[in-house]
Amino acid sequence: MAESCDLAVIIPTFNEEENIAAMIGAVEGAFRESGIRGEILVMDDGSKDRTIPIVREIAGKTDNVRLIVRKADHGLSQSVVEGFRSARSDILLVIDADFSHPPKLIPLLYEAIRGGADIAIGSRYMEGGDIEAWPLKRRIISRSATAFGRILFPGVTDPVSGFFAVRREVVAGAPLAPRGYKILMEVLGRGRWQTLTEIPFVFKDREGGESKLRADTMVDYLRQCGGIVRFSVTRRTGSVSDEWNKIVRFGLVGLSGIFVNMGLLYTLTEVAGLYYLISAAIAIELSIVNNFALNDAWTFRSARDLRVERKVSRFGSFQAVSMAGLAVNLGVLYLLADVLQVYYLVANLAGILAAFAWNYTANRHYTWKR
Ligand code: GDD
Repeated sequence: MAESCDLAVIIPTFNEEENIAAMIGAVEGAFRESGIRGEILVMDDGSKDRTIPIVREIAGKTDNVRLIVRKADHGLSQSVVEGFRSARSDILLVIDADFSHPPKLIPLLYEAIRGGADIAIGSRYMEGGDIEAWPLKRRIISRSATAFGRILFPGVTDPVSGFFAVRREVVAGAPLAPRGYKILMEVLGRGRWQTLTEIPFVFKDREGGESKLRADTMVDYLRQCGGIVRFSVTRRTGSVSDEWNKIVRFGLVGLSGIFVNMGLLYTLTEVAGLYYLISAAIAIELSIVNNFALNDAWTFRSARDLRVERKVSRFGSFQAVSMAGLAVNLGVLYLLADVLQVYYLVANLAGILAAFAWNYTANRHYTWKR
C-alpha cells in the first residue's frame, strides 16, 4: 500500500467469520466503483472463530487490507480508536462487519467529508432512514439511547450510529475515552468539529452471527454520557467547579421542593380537608413554583434577566421542562421495570436520576441560557 490513501475504512470485528470476507469484498467494490483509493483496517479483538485466519489470508493477497489483532483493552469503541490511530488516511470511516450498514453508502459519507463536513453520520432516524427487523425491546433501548444522546447533541438525529466518517483532525489529539458501543458519542463530545452532516440509511439486522451488545453496555453508555457532560462543561467554562456548584444547588433546591410538596399535601388534605389527589396536584404545582423561584434567585443567579416578561418566559420554560421530566421519570421506570424486569424501586431511582439529569441539562440550556 502506498504511504497514504484517500480513505481508511475501519471494521471492528469479534467473531465475524460468517460476514467478514463478504464485507471486505463489498468495501473493495465500493472503492472500485467510486474511484476511491482506500484501505481497510480490520480491528479484531481476538475472535474465537475463523475471523482471524480468514482476514489474514485476504490481507496476504492484497496490500490495501490490514488486520490488527488486539491483545488488550477489549471493546468495540477501543478497537475503533486504535483504528483511527493506525490509519494512513485523513478521512476515517467506521462500519460494522455484519452488513447492518450498507457498504454502498461509503462513497456518499466520504464525499460529504470531502465537501466540507467534519463529521458525516449514517442516520437511521432521519427521513429516509429506518431499522429493519429489530425486536421491540431492541427498538426501545435504541430509541432511549438516542433520545439521551440528542439531549447532549441537539440537532443530530442519530448520535449513537455505528456508521460514520470523520476528518482525522477531529479525533487526532482529542482525549477520547472509549468504552462500550457508542464511539460516535465520544467523537461528538470530545472531538474538535464545526460542521456535521447526516445521510439516511436503512439499518438491517445482521443475517449471520449474533450481536455482542450486553446489558452492561447500557451502563457503559450512561457513564460515557456523564464523562462527556463533564468534559464539555470543562471545555466551555474552563472549570468544573462552577458547574458542580450549580448542579449541587439545583439538587438542594429539588430537595426543598420535596419538603414543600409533602408539607402541602399533608396540610391541604388533613387540615383543609381537600381530596388527596386535588391536594397533590396543588402541591406539585406549588413545589414547581418554589423550585423555580429558588433556582432563579440562587442556582442560576448570574444568568437571569430581571425584566418581568423574561421572568414569566423562564417560568413557562421551567414548567414545561418539569412536566417533561415527569415523563422521563415514568418512561425510565416503565422501561426498566416492565421491559427489562429490573426491581421497581431500583428502576424508580434510575428514573429519578434520569429526570434530574434531564431537568438540569434542559433548564441550563433553555431556561437560564445566558
Ligand atoms: N473489535 C471488536 N471488539 N469488535 C466488536 C466488539 C468488540 O468487543 N463487539 C462487537 N464488535 C464488532 C462486531 O463484530 C460488528 O462488526 C460490530 O462491532 C457491531 O457489533 P454488534 O454486536 O453486531 O452491534 P449491534 O448491531 O448490536 O449494534 C450496532 O448498532 C448500534 C446502534 O444501535 C452497532 O453498529 C453499534 O456500533 C451501534 O452503536
